[in-house]
Amino acid sequence: MWNNLPPEILAFIFSFLPPDTLARARAVCQQWNSCAQQHHLLLFSSTNHHQHLHPPWLLAVPTHNCRHFCYAYNPSLSRWYNISLSFIPSALRLAVAAVGDGLLLVKPSLSIPSPLALCNPFTQHYKLLPPFICKRSNPSIGVVSTATGGYRIYVAGGSSNCTAYVSTMEMYDSEAGTWQIAGKMPEKYAARMILWSTSGSVHHNGVLYWITSARVYNVIGVDVGAPSPGWHEVGVPCADQLEFATLVMTRGGRGLGLVGGLAGREVCLWELEGRDTWVLVDKLPGEAVTRLLGREGKLGSVKCVGGGGLMYLFRDFGSGMLVWKEEIGSCRRDWYWVKRCLNGGDGPLPNFPVKGVLLWPSLSPLAALGK
Ligand SMILES: *[C@@H]1O[C@H](CO)[C@@H](O)[C@H](O)[C@H]1NC(C)=O
Ligand SMILES: *[C@@H]1O[C@H](CO)[C@@H](O)[C@H](O)[C@H]1NC(C)=O
Repeated sequence: MWNNLPPEILAFIFSFLPPDTLARARAVCQQWNSCAQQHHLLLFSSTNHHQHLHPPWLLAVPTHNCRHFCYAYNPSLSRWYNISLSFIPSALRLAVAAVGDGLLLVKPSLSIPSPLALCNPFTQHYKLLPPFICKRSNPSIGVVSTATGGYRIYVAGGSSNCTAYVSTMEMYDSEAGTWQIAGKMPEKYAARMILWSTSGSVHHNGVLYWITSARVYNVIGVDVGAPSPGWHEVGVPCADQLEFATLVMTRGGRGLGLVGGLAGREVCLWELEGRDTWVLVDKLPGEAVTRLLGREGKLGSVKCVGGGGLMYLFRDFGSGMLVWKEEIGSCRRDWYWVKRCLNGGDGPLPNFPVKGVLLWPSLSPLAALGK
């Protein structure tokens, strides 16, 4: 039967496969390979960023640039892969965030004066972005997807030399392929974000949010949807009791969530309502917190990354990961534990400090890079 299927039908069937299964299908024969590529060309002309068939993958990327590989987890098949990063210059291997369809934004380590770069870790394509307009190192970085499948990258603040902060924001638009100045930034935020910004940004309702941990946790937002972007602060629930806190996307990108651990070994999820009200929506069940922390684990060492209906919580890469999962169409959440074995390999994955990035993988790099 498979021999006689018209290519259009085969391509349609392929469109439901996750990328790792698709890659294997492409290795079957020439006809399947060309069908699978066709599907990807189609996908890229019609991708709506908020409609994905599969949940995002987790990339566990080393937080130091001394390693030339990372691990990728496909939650649909519960599989880990070892992904090479050696095609990226070693000075540029610090992961920032996922961008557009299947791209990873990487930045230089502190001492290296280099622009940002984009790469597709699955196809090993790589592109350096143009230099910033204002000389700056260590800026806060935010990413926005546009309705037409493109993306914008914002960089705000950063330091120009050892003593001065840059008080502007600039923006790279994938359509234009250039940076432009996108307004001013209050210097007090620049200083605080350089020193205390703990995780990436989340874009919600036209506002880019970062969380900082200067004395107590605090959220800083900038209205990037406005013609002249305004900055504001949003308080954080139970800020003085939080041991860790991370911003996450909830409800398929429609909600802004805050996951935080309270001193009494509780992990809570709040959602932002309006401009500055946090509402408690869920608590991680006690047995899950116990599993996450192990015997001596402290909440302060927990890292969290969330989006696409999944939140990953882990202490260190070596002791496994907890997934807190949204049920589609319901406000209920379930949790499960991720085993940490490489697909086809034996033994657990080695332990080293990682940053988690959620990304919808793509096997079609050039279309997205060229946009
Ligand atoms: C740092 O930059 C500021 C403004 O850009 C300048 O006024 C200052 O002299 C510079 N300091 C050093 C040590 O280069
Ligand atoms: C992953 O691949 C790299 C080589 O690219 C290798 O050094 C490393 O040991 C591999 N990790 C595992 C767990 O197999």
